Amino acid sequence: MRLKAILSVCLLALSTVLYADELIQIRTDRIGLVLRAEKDGRLYQSYIGKRLNNDSDLQNLPKGTEAYLTHGMEDYLEPALEVRHNDANASLLLKYVSHTIQNIEPDVDETVITLRDDQYPVTVKLHYVTYAKENIIKTFSEISHEEKKPIKLERYASAMLHFSNSAYYLTEYSGDWIYEATMSSTPLNFGKKVLDSKLGTRANMFTPPMFIFLLDKEASENEGEVILGTLGWTGNFRFTFEVDNKKDLRVIAGINPYYSEYALPKGEVFRTPDFYFTYSDCGEGQASRNFHDWARKYQLKDGEKDRLTLLNNWESTYFDFDENKLVDLMGDAVKLGVDMFLLDDGWFGNKHPRHSDTQGLGDWEETHDKLPNGIQRLVDEAAKKNIKFGIWIEPEMVNPKSELYEKHKDWVIHLPNREEYYFRNQMVLDLSNPEVQDFVFGVVDGLMTKYPGIAYFKWDCNSPITNIYSPYLKDKQTHLYVDYVRGLYNVLERIKAKYPDLPMMLCSGGSGRIDYEALKYFTEFWASDDTDPVQRLFIQYGYSFFYPAKSMSAHVTTWNKDASIKFRTDVAMRGKLGFDIKLSDLSGDDLTYCQNAVKNYKRLRPAIMEGDLYRLVSPYSGPHAANQFVTKDKNKALVFAFDVYPAYGEKCLPVRLEGLDAEKQYRVEEINMMPGQSSSLEGNGMVYSGDYLMKVGLTLFTGNKLHSRIIEIQTE
Ligand code: GLA
Repeated sequence: MRLKAILSVCLLALSTVLYADELIQIRTDRIGLVLRAEKDGRLYQSYIGKRLNNDSDLQNLPKGTEAYLTHGMEDYLEPALEVRHNDANASLLLKYVSHTIQNIEPDVDETVITLRDDQYPVTVKLHYVTYAKENIIKTFSEISHEEKKPIKLERYASAMLHFSNSAYYLTEYSGDWIYEATMSSTPLNFGKKVLDSKLGTRANMFTPPMFIFLLDKEASENEGEVILGTLGWTGNFRFTFEVDNKKDLRVIAGINPYYSEYALPKGEVFRTPDFYFTYSDCGEGQASRNFHDWARKYQLKDGEKDRLTLLNNWESTYFDFDENKLVDLMGDAVKLGVDMFLLDDGWFGNKHPRHSDTQGLGDWEETHDKLPNGIQRLVDEAAKKNIKFGIWIEPEMVNPKSELYEKHKDWVIHLPNREEYYFRNQMVLDLSNPEVQDFVFGVVDGLMTKYPGIAYFKWDCNSPITNIYSPYLKDKQTHLYVDYVRGLYNVLERIKAKYPDLPMMLCSGGSGRIDYEALKYFTEFWASDDTDPVQRLFIQYGYSFFYPAKSMSAHVTTWNKDASIKFRTDVAMRGKLGFDIKLSDLSGDDLTYCQNAVKNYKRLRPAIMEGDLYRLVSPYSGPHAANQFVTKDKNKALVFAFDVYPAYGEKCLPVRLEGLDAEKQYRVEEINMMPGQSSSLEGNGMVYSGDYLMKVGLTLFTGNKLHSRIIEIQTE
């Protein structure tokens, strides 16, 4: 008995040592996040915002709120973590054990804070990776335990952040097929605002995992404190914004816990997805540039490499094509001067040929009567014409009318005892099953092995997970949403390892699936099936807050024939340019214009793809829109200006340019015009100082409907 008493005194003493006050600084060049392990052993978030200059000040920070709150203790609001122990107790109290800070590559540090419960053998490691120059912080957590049987993870956030400000404003993204990335802002008052998805595969059809969050007052492009946050998870996510009784706000980001209770065996580590955020005290423009720079350098596949311009056949043929038609279209690609021809849906299936979206999905063999000489003929023709050849696949899906479904119903996510229902006449394969992972990998690998000349894939995903039951997972059904995504990553990882230089487009009936973890494997994403250039002004604007232009595929099509070919192309040139039109539909002048536009685009790639983006005028603000790209050396800028439906007699004021060097002299010249068109831009051909252009500006807009301009600004 006495021994026990002595032992507990020693343990107590030890714990006082363990729980010494510790300040942990997580910082980039401009952002500071200060965490503090207090004497009570708990970890608090003391500060988030502009980096503090003096370390000696950190001691003076208020204690703040517990950083990663758990269920079952004193907190009354939404927790970051909830676990059920073997004894059915669901409480967890995390105490600081240690932390490490490691430099993982130049300008990138990782802080790992280990927390542990003193009643249950559960360990949580909070990771914070800081990208100093780009001012991005990536966070995730790792959960593990030593209980006898698996513990149940009920919620497992990637990040929890606390704010204590006078007001909060959220800009959220909503949408649907052909309405992606619609932005709207709302003040956050008491209670919870949740943005989430339960769609599984086409997870972001209604909302992508990204948000903009403004502190104290509404921000603008160049003013105000702003946080941009996004989750790298290609599945169900949830963001919770909760304002409490004291007007403090917590933001919780992670996998959506909906129907996702996860049984974690002893010794295994559950790693949450990455949450990335940036902070800017000078508005949204800088915050976006932070994301673009970071994405190009660290996250996007081939982020620092060039992109291929292309001609796609989807809108000019849909399913109605054969070999000769495709070869003719390749001729069009050559005429346009693009780098690649992309063959879309409809090339596969023999027992159930893919003549429409009702059948054939899953049977990845060329349809003999459409392509009697197989893909090889197309690869060869492309090579002869000195262009590349790319191909569409949708390897995670199956039509019930297919040989794959007939042979392998056990591979399909479906309810064994209910009638099936279909989204776009198709169902989702069960990627939690390793055999299915092999099959999906085999779709790419099989094509690449047989036709090594294939230079590009467009990977589509047109259905959410429906008929929600995995034949493989049996009594672990609530693992489906998580294991599906992990299965997908396993496949994508294998593809990247075997074909590291293969560019791929991420598509999901438009951008129904878009996040930064997926973009590790994809060079670009298809922003929307809506290629009406007016709608695209909004969609591309919305995505531009997080994604750089080179990642955003934008094609010139025949949507909105009221808009000229120039207007449609000028819109597409602000992203990753492609075409999806028949050249026979174009007039001679239209074709000459397009050929010239492709040449211009290639010449201007350093500005569009690698430059800094300035959103000069938002399409949401009225009948005009404009943005500007500036090369990093500030020697060249490009301004894109659009008049959509201006009011009659509207007064057009000059628009101030941004990001130039005030000391340099720049020549201003309108480019990309129709043959024979002369510029009506005031000051066209003149030389101005950067100072003038940024203080006075240029009269970019006109009173003309559906009118567009591209202006090249080059140092003398
Ligand atoms: C989806 C894509 C389109 C096209 C079709 C083919 O809708 O978003 O671009 O590839 O599938 O069926």
